[in-house]
Parts: sequence; structure tokens; C-alpha cells
Amino acid sequence: MNYVIGVDLGTSATKTILVNEKGRTVCSAEYSYTMDTPQNGWAEQDPRIWRKAVLETLKEVMQRSGVNRDSVLGLGLSGQMHGSVVLDENDEPVRKAILWCDQRSVRQTQEMLRLISFEQWLEITANPPLAAWTAAKLLWIRENEPQNYSRIRHVLLPKDYIRLVLTGEYATDVSDATGMQLLDVKNRRWSDEVLRVLQIDRSLLGTLYESAEATGTVRRSIAEECGLSDKTIVAAGGSDNACAALGTGVVNEGQAFVTLGTSSVVYTHFQEYIQIPGGGLHVCCCAVPGCWHSMGGPMSAGMSIEWFKNNFCQDLMQKAKERGESFYEQLTEMVEHVPIGSDRLIYLPFLMGERTPHMDPLYRGAFLGLSEVHTQAHMLRSIMEGISFSLADCNDLLKKQNIKVTSLRVTGGGSRSIAYRKMLAALFRCDVHEVEGREGAAYGAAILGGVASKLFSSVQEACMAFVREKNTVTYSKKEADIYDRFHQVYDHMYDALKDSFHELAQL
Ligand code: XUL
Repeated sequence: MNYVIGVDLGTSATKTILVNEKGRTVCSAEYSYTMDTPQNGWAEQDPRIWRKAVLETLKEVMQRSGVNRDSVLGLGLSGQMHGSVVLDENDEPVRKAILWCDQRSVRQTQEMLRLISFEQWLEITANPPLAAWTAAKLLWIRENEPQNYSRIRHVLLPKDYIRLVLTGEYATDVSDATGMQLLDVKNRRWSDEVLRVLQIDRSLLGTLYESAEATGTVRRSIAEECGLSDKTIVAAGGSDNACAALGTGVVNEGQAFVTLGTSSVVYTHFQEYIQIPGGGLHVCCCAVPGCWHSMGGPMSAGMSIEWFKNNFCQDLMQKAKERGESFYEQLTEMVEHVPIGSDRLIYLPFLMGERTPHMDPLYRGAFLGLSEVHTQAHMLRSIMEGISFSLADCNDLLKKQNIKVTSLRVTGGGSRSIAYRKMLAALFRCDVHEVEGREGAAYGAAILGGVASKLFSSVQEACMAFVREKNTVTYSKKEADIYDRFHQVYDHMYDALKDSFHELAQL
């Protein structure tokens, strides 16, 4: 039997899985870490922690599974997008990586708009300048830490730093490269024009590949350390969202999924390149060669649950541990006793500002309508509802483009909660399906490892053969109508509170 490995470098943990040639995950390992938030709206991680997490989990799956190292043909990498890994001449990080959810570089996006018009940014990079994306972060480092900037010899994305560790290659793939905002997205190549205008030296960037192409093999020293073979092929891999699409089998026109993890997105696959007027949704190259996807990425959707869980739910975490259940199973049990609308409590999930649909880095979170009747369960339900409202707002932008999501797949830790799936079904007014196996992005990465090592003949074929739907939640019109009334109040809050949040940011 042959095998492939998928590694997903997430924001709260790295997950590594070993998958056999029939598509069954035979072993998995996880290594958790935290995110540093040195200031309000900032987020960083030390790439050396990712290195440790990946090597430890690789070692663990190889040891625990006992499979023969020569039978592991390929390895694919998936990772959190946009993070700036800046390396010196010895490939050591010059500073911590600034993460996707860090909004410090707002001023730099204004400068980017001064240099190239909004329309031209859309034309070239398919997206307007975003503080969360890599280009603005690089400009921030150049402006605020010139001594660090002058030491940078390589700029990589998080998963591409892991590739460097594993293979010694400086490379990236088109899906993740889109999120650097330095790519000509329609033509799937670095944009000479953007690099010239921003004065970023092209030699800092890695070689660009399609996601399922091979980018090298595992170095001998690493292979020995982790129990792998030095013949194992490392695929270019993809952004966590592009990989989650493969892991949920979303590889054909009109298919869509929602991730409910630390980050949450609504993702739709396209066979042809499209531009979203106004740039309200991201458009990126996807991991299927020659295809694209749109993505609405509310900044702190899933992160809101993590935040509330870590700060206010020690009791539930303990209970989940004692019962051997996940936090989301606990959550479902609790929130099902609270009515739709959380007894008139609305949560705004904007802890780190917002990208889609509001593009406002200074916006922050809030509970609206708090009363003496509200309990922990109400607050948890209103957080889940607030996240679902923000995802539904992204879907509304798709509808404006006449793109109708008629069936939705879900992935990520939150997809375990039936309460969550019911909310999405009501707010998207369509059926919501879980897929077998919950590895999402790691599974997609493993598929890419399989295609790069020729175990599978194409990305689409592997996905169609391996990914199956299960546990469908059918949508109820009656519930959808009730949710709509609360959703309307939620939607008014942005305009109502915008100025106050901007004022607060100045204090
Ligand atoms: C998408 C985004 C997040 C990250 C983190 O634009 O920033 O989904 O990929 O996982």
C-alpha cells in the first residue's frame, strides 16, 4: 500500500495526517501553539514554532503508524495565508511573522492606493490593497523597522517556510501567492508592475508553481530526523482555503463550502477568471490548475469562539475533556436550549477589524442588547449567530454577482456542531453537508502530495473519488424567516457604530 502526507499549518495548531492510496486517513497528529498579540489589532508567531510543530507531528505519524518510509510517496503543504516570513542570509527569521489577522498596515494600504489606482489593483491582483495581505506588511516593516528590512533576503509564506525546512527550496504556489498581493492573478505569474511600483526586489520571492506540481524531495537530514524517505516528493501545496476546497471536494463550478475554524470563509469555485466589482470578496487562483475561487473572509469569525472559549469557558473545556468530547459538542448541547436570536442578543464578530464585507480595520466587536437574563449559553449562541450573519453577508455579495450557492459543504472544528450547521442552512437558505473525514485542509494537502508524486492522476479525479457527503441539514423556511429579522438588525449595526469605533481607535 502507498501513502501520502498532508500538513496543515494553522493559526492555533499544525495538523499532520497520513492517508493511504484508497483515501483513508490512517494516522494523524496535532501540535498546538498560541498567537502573540503585542498590541490591539496586531498578531504574530515565531516561524521556529511552526518548524518544531511540523517536525514533531511528522515524526509522530511515522512512528505511530509504523508504515514503511519508502511507501510514503508524496507530501503536501497547506497553510494559513498572508503571513510574512522574512529570512536573513542564513535563512533565520529576521523577526516574528506578521499574521493574516494583523491589521497594523492600514497606512501602507493608503500609500499603495496612491501609487496604483483602486481599479488597477483589482485588474492586476484581483483584490484591493488589504492590510491583512503580505505586500502591506512588507511595506510596514520597511517603514517601521528599516534595520530589519535591510537584512531580509527571502520573503516566504508560512507553509513555504516549512517547504524550505523540508526541502531547501524557496518556492510557493499560485493559490497562496495570490494572498501576497504581488501576483498577476489572471495570468498566474508575479506582477512585474506591482513589484516595480512597490520597489520590492523579485529575488526576495520564491519560484512560483501550480499547487499540484513537485517542488523537490525531503532533505536527507530531515528525512532521518522524522523517519521519512529522502525520495518523498513535496508538492507545491496551497493556501489553507484552497486546500480545504480539495478536502471538501469543492472543485467544480458552482460548488461552495464554509470553513468554521479559527478563520472562517465562504469559498466558491470558478472554472473561469472573474472580477468582483468593488473587490468586496477576494478572488484567488485555486489549487485546481487553471481555476480560480472567490472567498469572503470575515476576519475574526471563528476566532471569536476561540476568544470566548479561552477567556470565559474554562468550565466547559474541563467538562469536554472529562467526557472525551470536543468543545463544539458541548456547545451544541448548550446553545440548543436558547431560542433563535439568543433572546435578543446580537454579537458583532469584529475583534480584529474587518475585511469582507466591510473593509474596515478599525471596527471592533460588541454584544448588543445585553440584559440580566443572558447567560454564558446566550453569549455563545449569539457569537455563533454573529459569525453566521457575517458569512451570510459574504454570500449576499455573491448573489449580487448572480452567483447562487445552492448547496454548501462545511469543514473545520465548528462543523462538528449541528447547531452551527442549522444556522448556516437557514441563513444561506440551502442544504448544508458535512463530508466524511474532518481533516479539510490537511486532506487537501495530502491529495496534492498524491498528485505531485503521480499516485493520483489529477486533483479533480482524486477529490471526486475520495470525498463523500454525509449528515445533510435541510433548511427550514420557517427558521430562515426568523433569522432574517435578526440579521437585518445586525446589518444596520455597521453604519450605526462605525464612527464610534473610529473615535475609540484614536483614544
Ligand atoms: C484568508 C485568511 C485566512 C487565513 C488563515 O484570506 O486570511 O483564512 O488563511 O487561516
